[in-house]
Amino acid sequence: MARKIVVTGGKGGVGKTTVCANLGIALAHKSKRVLLMDLDIGLNNLDVTMHVEDKVVFDLVDVIENRCRPSQAFIQDSAEPTLYVMPSCHLAKRQINADQIKRVVSRLEDNFDYIFIDCPAGIDSGFRRAVACADEAILVVTPHLSSVRDADKAIAELIGNTPVSVVINRVRGDLVASGEMLSPFEVFSLLGQTALGVLPENDYVNCNVRGSSVAAFDLLASNLETGKCELYDCVTPYKGVFGRLRRKLKRNA
Ligand SMILES: Nc1ncnc2c1ncn2[C@@H]1O[C@H](COP(=O)(O)OP(=O)(O)OP(=O)(O)O)[C@@H](O)[C@H]1O
Ligand SMILES: [Mg+2]
Repeated sequence: MARKIVVTGGKGGVGKTTVCANLGIALAHKSKRVLLMDLDIGLNNLDVTMHVEDKVVFDLVDVIENRCRPSQAFIQDSAEPTLYVMPSCHLAKRQINADQIKRVVSRLEDNFDYIFIDCPAGIDSGFRRAVACADEAILVVTPHLSSVRDADKAIAELIGNTPVSVVINRVRGDLVASGEMLSPFEVFSLLGQTALGVLPENDYVNCNVRGSSVAAFDLLASNLETGKCELYDCVTPYKGVFGRLRRKLKRNA
C-alpha cells in the first residue's frame, strides 16, 4: 500500500514541483515504485519538470471521466523504470473534486510504494483538494520570511488532519554563514514541525546534472524512508578561513 504524500508549501514558486520530481527520482533510484500526480490543475508543470511533456496523451481528468484507464495516463520515466508521472489537465475550468481524485488514488495505491501529489500554490480549493487525497504532507519552504509566513498558514490548514514535515529549499550556505539569510535551524524552529530536509540553491536542479542537489535529495529520500533526520549541510563549507574565501569567490562569481 502506497504512502500518499502531498507536496505543498503555501507560497508559489518555492519548489514544490521540483521537490516532488526529484524526491520521486531519488526513491525510484532505490527501486521504489513511485507515482507523481500533478494536482496543479490549470497551471500544471510537473510534466515539464520531468521532461515528459511531449509524451502526454491522457491526463488525470481523462481518467476521472472514464476516457481511459489510469495506466494509460501514466508516463514512465526514461531513466527510472519504476517512476511514473500522471499529468493533469491544463484547462483550469475543468471541475473535478477531491472524491473523484481519491477514487483514482485508491485504485492505484496497491501498485506503488509512494504516491506524491504535487499541490498548487495557495491555501484555497486547489490546496484543499490535493491535501484531501494524501495521508502525509511535505511542506516546502524557502528561507525567506514571506515564505515562512505562508508556510505557517498552510500548516494551520493542515494541522489536525495530516502529519507535516518540512523541507527547506534554496538554502545558500554562503549567505547563512554571513548572517544574511535565515539559517535552516531558525526556519525549522519558527515553523515548529518535524524537519525532513535541507536543499541547497542549485542552478542545475532540473537539468539532470549530478551535483549538490543529488546528494541532498538522496538524503531527503532516506529521511522519508527511515524517519531519521539527517540534514544536508550547506553552511559548514562557508565557515572558517577557507569558507570566507569561498564566500568571497561566490559573491564575485
Ligand atoms: N534548490 C533550487 N535551486 C535553484 N532553483 C530552484 C531550486 N528549487 C526550485 N528552483 C527553481 O525555482 C522555480 C520554481 O520551482 P517550482 O516550479 O518547483 O516551484 P513550485 O513551488 O512548484 O511553483 P508553483 O507554485 O508555481 O507550482 C523553477 O524554475 C525551479 O527550477
Ligand atoms: Mg508547482
